[in-house]
Order: sequence, then C-alpha cells, then structure tokens
Amino acid sequence: MNYKFSDRVPQSDTDPVGVILKVAGDPKVMSFAGGLPAPELFPVEQIKAAANKVLTEKGPAALQYGSSQGIPELRQVILGRLAIEGIKTDIDHVIVTTGSQQSIDLTGKMFLNEGDTVIVEDPTYLTAVDVFKSYGAHFVGVAMDEDGMRIDALEEALKNNPNTRLIYTIPTFQNPTGRTMTLARRTKLVELAEKYDVLILEDNPYGAIRWEGKNLPSLKSFDKNDHVIYMGTLSKILSPGLRLGWVVADPNLIKKYTMMKQSADLHTDSLAQYIAAEYFAANNIDEHVAGITDLYHKREQIMINAIDKYFPKEVKHSNPEGGMFLWVSVPGVQDSQKLFDAALKRNVAIVPGDPFFGNETIPGTFRMNYSNTPEAKIEAGVKLLSEAIEEVMGK
Ligand SMILES: Cc1ncc(COP(=O)(O)O)c(C=O)c1O
Repeated sequence: MNYKFSDRVPQSDTDPVGVILKVAGDPKVMSFAGGLPAPELFPVEQIKAAANKVLTEKGPAALQYGSSQGIPELRQVILGRLAIEGIKTDIDHVIVTTGSQQSIDLTGKMFLNEGDTVIVEDPTYLTAVDVFKSYGAHFVGVAMDEDGMRIDALEEALKNNPNTRLIYTIPTFQNPTGRTMTLARRTKLVELAEKYDVLILEDNPYGAIRWEGKNLPSLKSFDKNDHVIYMGTLSKILSPGLRLGWVVADPNLIKKYTMMKQSADLHTDSLAQYIAAEYFAANNIDEHVAGITDLYHKREQIMINAIDKYFPKEVKHSNPEGGMFLWVSVPGVQDSQKLFDAALKRNVAIVPGDPFFGNETIPGTFRMNYSNTPEAKIEAGVKLLSEAIEEVMGK
C-alpha cells in the first residue's frame, strides 16, 4: 500500500533520537543519554498498597469511564503541588492529562495553524519540537545563557515575528541544559507576553528536584491576565509509568482543553488517577522527593567532579542546581554526531545537541543525564567520554 500520510507525519522514516536511545539501551553501553528517573527509588510497595486500597474500596469507579477533566481527588492533590510554585488556584483551573507530553500536544493542536511561530529556548526539549513541528510550527530559537532565556533576544524575536502564538519555556532545570531562569527574567518574560499579547507555555517537570539555591516562583504565579499556561507532571517526582500530568489555565481555556482531550483519549487513565490520589493521601511526597533530590545531587556531583578531572579544560558544562541534565559544549567541533559516534565506540552514550534545536543548531554540544547511572559507574564513563572528546577535538 502506498500510504498517503497527512502533512503532520514526518516524511523520513529515520528517527535519530530513537536510534540513539536504542543503542543506549544495550546493556554493554553505559548510557548518559536517556532522561529516565532512578528506578530504584520508585515507591513500589506504597503504590501496591494504594492500588489495593483503590480496588478494594472504589474498584468500579476506578475501572469505569471518567471525567475528561480528571478526578477531583487528584486535582485537589495537584493544588498542593501548585502552591509550592506560588500558584494559588482552584480545581476548575486544572485538567489532568496523560502526562506533560499530552499537555504539549493538546496545546499545539489548540493554538497552532500551519506557519504560526513558536518561540523556543535554544536549545529546548526535543519532543516538544517534534510536536510543534507536526502542527506546522515555524520555530524561532532564543539564545540562552546560564541565567536562562535571554530576554533582550526574546523581545527582538517578538518584534520580528508578529504571528507568534506561543513562547514555550522550561524555566527551571531546563531539559536539556539544566539551567534555571532568574527571578528578574521571569517577571520580565511575563511582562513581555502581556505587552505582545502572546501566550507562554510553561513546562515544569523538574522544579521540585532542587538541591541548591532557593525555590523560584513559577511564571504562572506572576500571571495577571491569563497569558501563562502552566504544565506539571508526576513523572519525575513519582513515576513516569503512571502517565499523569496537568495543565493549569483560566477555566474557559480548561473547558477547551477538556473538549480537545475528549477527542484525543476521552480521559486520563482512571485507575492511575485514583492510585496517585491515594498515594498522596497515605504518604509524604515531600520526603520522597527529598530522597530523589539527594540521590541525583550525589550523582551530579560525581559527574561534575569527573568532568572537571578528565575533560579538556576548554570544554564547558552547565552547573545545574537541580533536575536531571548537564549540557556540554566542545569548542571547535562542528558535528555533534561525531562526539556521539566516538563515545559509542567506547560503549558510552550521550545525546548529541542537534535535535534539541528548532532550526539553527549550536555545533559541538551534547546532553548528559546523571539520574539513571549508579554512582560507582559514573567516573569510568566520564573518563571514556573524555577520550572520545579528545579524539574528535584532534588532541
Ligand atoms: C521538558 C519536558 N517536558 C515534558 C516531558 C514529558 O513528560 P511526561 O512524562 O509528563 O509526559 C519531559 C520528559 O522528559 C520533559 O523533559
């Protein structure tokens, strides 16, 4: 059959990121490539107890079709998470989604027509790029520095692109750089969104995993005129397999999300929602997140110490105060793929920088993940990676 795909389907059959993650999954490869949480910290016993209780006490409701906006019990729990981000709201402002990935997809579907501009950080979350591309987005990348998206460059982009529909940003412990936007830039960003009457899509999967510095308020907490759509998820603080995320926006917009979600999947998995709500009722999530934070901090420190010991001095890396990723820049290297190939030859995997950019890339970059590698293995992996970098740099 000669399939006649819609314009939304990528023309190429090659999935470069899929290929990278597949090789990274080979047991003989030490992978700094994926973005997976540490599985040894999943609270399996507590989830088992929660599932038992839900099935015993609310079995029929948990196994039945449910509300497209999500069960009130979980939306109530989400309000508690939002309060930490400085967002005071009520459950009418919240819809439960099948993970942040669906929140991004529904947002693209709702706001983008072919050729509309999406402003993204340079670099940004690669799967958001794929989603917005599928809705025909034209990307404008805004340069970052260690303090997050550069606001002067953003204003320039807004001036030059009057058909901008969305500014997509991950202000805290950004994927892929691990960088965090300063407080001053956060307030300015919301001001600019109001001035140019553009929506911000604020994605915050990592904000709770902070080991240094003080918690910064979300962009949504500064939003007076409904210019910020906020997204959160349980994937990094509890379990990605539950597939539970949320969108926070004005109730009229939540109604539209609810309609769009109906046509996507009717509603988020009821059983998963009840189990998560029960988990929160019976356990202290803050203690659990503190355990995750301690472990990732330990792993990040080992990785940074090893990088400082082995990588050539010209190589730069970010210094995250939380989250799961480091961003590395190797000066003088034009093709990031060469770094991946040289590392893989030594059975180490990283993600080369290119897919993290909407259009123009920054050469010689790659992302490293530390959350998913046991402490005892990190230094040896970084040492092998340093040999790969030296080879590509011609040292
Ligand atoms: C920035 C960012 N947004 C969204 C997601 C998707 O998360 P979820 O598991 O909630 O769909 C990820 C996953 O890694 C991410 O890094």
